[in-house]
Amino acid sequence: MSLRETFEKNPNRRYIMFGGKGGLGKTTFSAATAYWLAKQGFKVLVFSVDPQASLSDIFKCDIFGRGPVEIMPNLYAQEIDADQRIKAYQDEIRKKIIDMYGMETIPDEVENYIQAAAAEPAMEESAIFDAVVDIVVSGQYDYYIYDLVPLGHALYYLSMASVYDEWIDKITQLRTEMEEYNKVAAVMKRNKESEEDQILRELQEIKYRINTSSGILTDKAKTAFFFVVIPEEMIILDTKKAADLFAKFQVPLSGYIVNRVIPTELASQDIPEYLRNRIIMQDNYMKEINQVFGGQVLAQVPEFERDITGLPMIERVANELFGGAG
Ligand SMILES: Nc1ncnc2c1ncn2[C@@H]1O[C@H](COP(=O)(O)OP(=O)(O)OP(=O)(O)O)[C@@H](O)[C@H]1O
Ligand SMILES: [Mg+2]
Repeated sequence: MSLRETFEKNPNRRYIMFGGKGGLGKTTFSAATAYWLAKQGFKVLVFSVDPQASLSDIFKCDIFGRGPVEIMPNLYAQEIDADQRIKAYQDEIRKKIIDMYGMETIPDEVENYIQAAAAEPAMEESAIFDAVVDIVVSGQYDYYIYDLVPLGHALYYLSMASVYDEWIDKITQLRTEMEEYNKVAAVMKRNKESEEDQILRELQEIKYRINTSSGILTDKAKTAFFFVVIPEEMIILDTKKAADLFAKFQVPLSGYIVNRVIPTELASQDIPEYLRNRIIMQDNYMKEINQVFGGQVLAQVPEFERDITGLPMIERVANELFGGAG
């Protein structure tokens, strides 16, 4: 099975992710896949939450925090600015406080609290998570390509979905029980919608969003998750471990792509000893990759003579990944 066939045989898989350790080629493959799909006529969004702005680098275009930016016909790229989103949260909270308590301005103590809360790492995570959910549930594109951060983090996001879900389940249950008591009490003071009801509604909305998005991310019918690996000992070991972990979180894996393969035909040419040794070493690791990941290797991409930036280079990678243009 080739990468191209995986796409052709699973036309309903519209959420695409490339996982793997840092610097192996996740962003490169995300961009190349987005490029290839766009060329096929699909409307594609490739997005990231990485403040390092690597999509901006690869597309040679500053897109950070600017929403979806059209790179070429059908191809949109977006880099989410978590800070911007946190600021929006803060404004929302200020507005709620002002409305609820009929205040003119936010008291200093409260403002300090709002500032402190925004500095919490959990706040950033939740802002990112929220932004991703927004994108994924919006349904404006044929394909969504999530350019992930390195493995550890990606796992964290995925596991977070189930943690959030549990947490919200518990609270929702509590709130529902309280509502039952309230119904009894409400016989006496019926008219106004209680604050509890409002909170419950909000929680249910959050739960719906999380279920929808984590449902999508763990559904093999809708999502393809590819692992990027390179022919190196440590990377092969780590990837194997990560794959086991993903299985534990029930994130379905769709296959592996080997990147940075030194073209072996060089070996028959007059090349320096140094390069020859590297090719021999790589040969062993390629054997190991085929042993460990077997028939799940979907594509091999060579080591290019330079780094991958700009559409012509992206096109070359896409041709390697998917086997020729069109
Ligand atoms: N086959 C290749 N040939 C040459 N350069 C490559 C190849 N694949 C990737 N690169 C280069 O390697 C660097 C890292 O690639 P990339 O940014 O795609 O990795 P990443 O997995 O997204 O990294 P991070 O984990 O930091 O997000 C980039 O400069 C990219 O251009
Ligand atoms: Mg990247």
